[in-house]
Amino acid sequence: MPGVGSPHVVNIEDLRRLAQRRLPKAVFDYLDGGAADEVTLRENCRAFQEVVLRPRHAIAHEKCDLRTRVLGHEISFPAMLAPVGYSRLMHPGGEVAAARAAGEIGTGFILSTISGHKLEDVRAASSGPVWYQLYVVGGREAAEAAIERARAAGFSALVITIDTPVAGMRERDLRNGVKELMGGSLLAKIPFIPQLLAHPRWLAAFVLDGGVPKLENILTPGKGAMRMTDVAAALASAVVTWNDLRWLRKVWPAPIVVKGVLTADDALRAIDEGASGVVVSNHGGRQLDGVAASLRALPEIVAAVNGQAEVLMDGGIRRGSDIVKAICMGARSVLVGRAYAYGLGAAGHAGVGRALEILRADVERTLRLLGCASVAELNSSLVEVPEGWRAKPRA
Ligand SMILES: Cc1cc2nc3c(=O)[nH]c(=O)nc-3n(C[C@H](O)[C@H](O)[C@H](O)COP(=O)(O)O)c2cc1C
Repeated sequence: MPGVGSPHVVNIEDLRRLAQRRLPKAVFDYLDGGAADEVTLRENCRAFQEVVLRPRHAIAHEKCDLRTRVLGHEISFPAMLAPVGYSRLMHPGGEVAAARAAGEIGTGFILSTISGHKLEDVRAASSGPVWYQLYVVGGREAAEAAIERARAAGFSALVITIDTPVAGMRERDLRNGVKELMGGSLLAKIPFIPQLLAHPRWLAAFVLDGGVPKLENILTPGKGAMRMTDVAAALASAVVTWNDLRWLRKVWPAPIVVKGVLTADDALRAIDEGASGVVVSNHGGRQLDGVAASLRALPEIVAAVNGQAEVLMDGGIRRGSDIVKAICMGARSVLVGRAYAYGLGAAGHAGVGRALEILRADVERTLRLLGCASVAELNSSLVEVPEGWRAKPRA
């Protein structure tokens, strides 16, 4: 199997293939898959093909400035690492390894509540900004304890994910026995064990790492760190409502970002409730299947927000040109999920570093080919967006 530094690994799809080879099917499909028919998962990527670039030629720039600012932090290029739950199952380094790679390239990392590493260790691993993504798993008391720890450790924003009232219908996870493998009896696990044995390198690392990790940042009173259960059980108890936003504003003094916005209505509501930023996102096609690709929802939200908050987007980013298109359409930065998680699954810290380097170099190349000297120069005249995307659907 080629390493992530091999000349055969030139794009994110190559890292995806390496992750598929190293990971057991249950883990790879958890990472790679989406909800139901996976229509939205595919649309997230396909939508980028509908946006056409309009370069200005015969321009030479000696240098290209990829930096941008997100919630007051300078990042080295306009892509941050999205929260990805259960990262420690992909590689023992998990969230710590990913945060370290984010810091090394000069960008931000968002830690999921569903983390196998302590948030303090994640913060310490990165020299860049780190934000904490909150699910209210384990109740408000446990959430407040995590928020206080995140504040004390130096997390600079709280990300509230609003698109998970229940887990999406992830059919691959059901078929692969994720629930049984994570929490079932030994008897229930037996039919699903051969897929683990078929990946001895992953299995050895997993066993040496202590097996299924605990959720180190969800401390329930009297019980300590919560046991990791399957994703459906975790999300079923974690619904966040607008009422919770009022409570969170009281307990979290720094910026709040609302993630999972797909309509102008929700974007404006988030701003009313005090959000400094919104993430246009459909959870990477893992929640409600059949919703719009995030990129398609972006123009409606950029227009409605009208500069009152920072607009980020995620979903389907696999190329630097995808990042550039989203910025041209008004996003301040994108978040990448699977693009770095494939790297993590393929080779831990080195794989995440490779994924980010591929994306960063690709953004720079795209900017040069467009005739732009900086991310700040990107604007709507550099893209042709399908006509219907701009119209705001009537309520
Ligand atoms: C394996 C996996 C786990 C995820 N876990 C979380 C999570 O714990 N919290 C959250 O807000 N979003 C989670 N997401 C969604 C990502 O933050 C992000 O919205 C999505 O991955 C973007 O799409 P992309 O993977 O195409 O880049 C997860 C995504 C994946 C692929």
